Amino acid sequence: MIKKHYKRILVTSALTYANGYTHLGHIAGSILPADMYVRYLRLSGYDVIYICGSDEYGTAIEMTSIQESKTPQEIIDKYHFANKLAYEALGVSFDIYSRTSSEIHKKTSQEFFKKLYDKGLLYLKSEKQLYSEQEGRFLADRFVIGTCPHCRYEEARGDECESCGTTLSPLELIDPRSKITGDRPVVKESSHFYFPLSKFQTKLEEWMSTKSNWKANVLNYCKGWFKSGLRDRAITRDLKWGVPVPLEDYRDKVLYVWFEAPIGYISNTKEYFASKGDTDKWKEYWMSSDTKLVHFLGKDNIVFHAIFFPAMLMAHGDFVLVDNIPANEFMNLEGSKQSKSKGHAIYVKDVVEKFNPDSIRYTIASNMPENKDTDFYWEDLQARNNNELAAILGNFVNRTFIFSDKYFDLMVPPLSGEYQPIDKEILSKLKSYSESIASYYENYKFKDAVSETMNLAREANKYFNDTEPWNVIKHDKQRCGVIINTCLQLCYSFAILFNPVLPFTSMKMLKMMNMSGSDLKWSDAYAVALKEDHRLNKPEILFSKIENEEIKNL
Ligand code: MF3
Ligand code: ZN
Repeated sequence: MIKKHYKRILVTSALTYANGYTHLGHIAGSILPADMYVRYLRLSGYDVIYICGSDEYGTAIEMTSIQESKTPQEIIDKYHFANKLAYEALGVSFDIYSRTSSEIHKKTSQEFFKKLYDKGLLYLKSEKQLYSEQEGRFLADRFVIGTCPHCRYEEARGDECESCGTTLSPLELIDPRSKITGDRPVVKESSHFYFPLSKFQTKLEEWMSTKSNWKANVLNYCKGWFKSGLRDRAITRDLKWGVPVPLEDYRDKVLYVWFEAPIGYISNTKEYFASKGDTDKWKEYWMSSDTKLVHFLGKDNIVFHAIFFPAMLMAHGDFVLVDNIPANEFMNLEGSKQSKSKGHAIYVKDVVEKFNPDSIRYTIASNMPENKDTDFYWEDLQARNNNELAAILGNFVNRTFIFSDKYFDLMVPPLSGEYQPIDKEILSKLKSYSESIASYYENYKFKDAVSETMNLAREANKYFNDTEPWNVIKHDKQRCGVIINTCLQLCYSFAILFNPVLPFTSMKMLKMMNMSGSDLKWSDAYAVALKEDHRLNKPEILFSKIENEEIKNL
């Protein structure tokens, strides 16, 4: 059980960069586990909100805008709305999916900066940077190319040489030029505000020493960074696209995206409650120590959520710190990393058009990269859909409904005979399974939660086979009624227990059972919830088979 002293749970998924379509890597890393977690929590009656949105500033957006010959605003509009729709199509149940270009975020992140500034925590440092006179601006790392001083590759980027893999700074490049215009930049001094991360190292290490329940991968990354020593970080940039620094003399600078974006979790929470007419309620979530804050993200984001953002929050002083960061590794695509910049990815918007979204969710959850990188294979989607969802869950529900239709007029048969031990056994398993699945969810073991749920469906099929209703009906309709009644209760339990991973199927099943989907409760999974003579609706096929041709050439 989630510790008693927590009164509410605040769940976030890493904000998605609005410079490309969201892909299955995002889903496996930070979206699906969070969605399953919050769906489980809601069913269990916890007070939980789920916050996400688009990350709309930073050089990644500017770069795409140049590549696509559009303004940054056009880029974020295009991808923000497309991604919001794609997540919806996949059944992701955010309470809010907003954007960091919102007014409320600008204000919130500026106030945050201002508070640190007023506390005297930030300092200014001047550094040499490349400046394009033709473009009238400083060039961010990625906007500079030149010759690598190590391997002489002529197209090395300002942050790294793709040819020899060395990390670079733009000033090290030989013959640097602007990636956009080819202009030869000059070296100019520029001042930036620094966040004193090094000063927070001891405090962070002490805090993290209380987090023995964190995943080993997260703790190991953090140990590594502590060992090499945390360094102060510039939190402003000479860019046009971003949240302006809220100080008169520095209006032409913006906040560094990794400073401002995580504050987006706070801004979006504000916006969520404001839209419900409860303007101050966000404080209850962010400013109480009895809030459990959980960040879901992929491993490339760990340092920002385990170290940098907590240090910012410590410095600020008013906010709750993260309770856990169940970070995932990567889900690769048939053997190599999904990347939108390389065009090697499966986009959510495309895949939901071709396949049942629940089959996609189930496949990813069953192979979630919880402890190591995993791979997505189309054959795996086909196999999981056909051999598990259709052949086990779908088959059981279908058999039960066919019987109810054919012999009981689509009414829940009465329990007029006694339960036999075999009935009692399967009904009692509902309780133990509900508890073990719950505990997997609460401990961020999503793969186990899903396979355990499917094991219960296997048991249900075994019950059907062992009780042989097709034989019993021939000589004892009453007994057959008890069996089918039991099977229908199992179907209702599945609508609840599968809901976190298969939300659409869950609703479909409830509709077939003529039951409401609005007040589902986890504990009803082991209550005998269907009343005798309750009328059922006509069954529908839950999962259709995926044929070989459908996954060929994908
Ligand atoms: N947009 C970033 C990424 O995709 C994640 C931002 S998370 C936040 O890697 F905390 F900064 F919002
Ligand atoms: Zn090189």
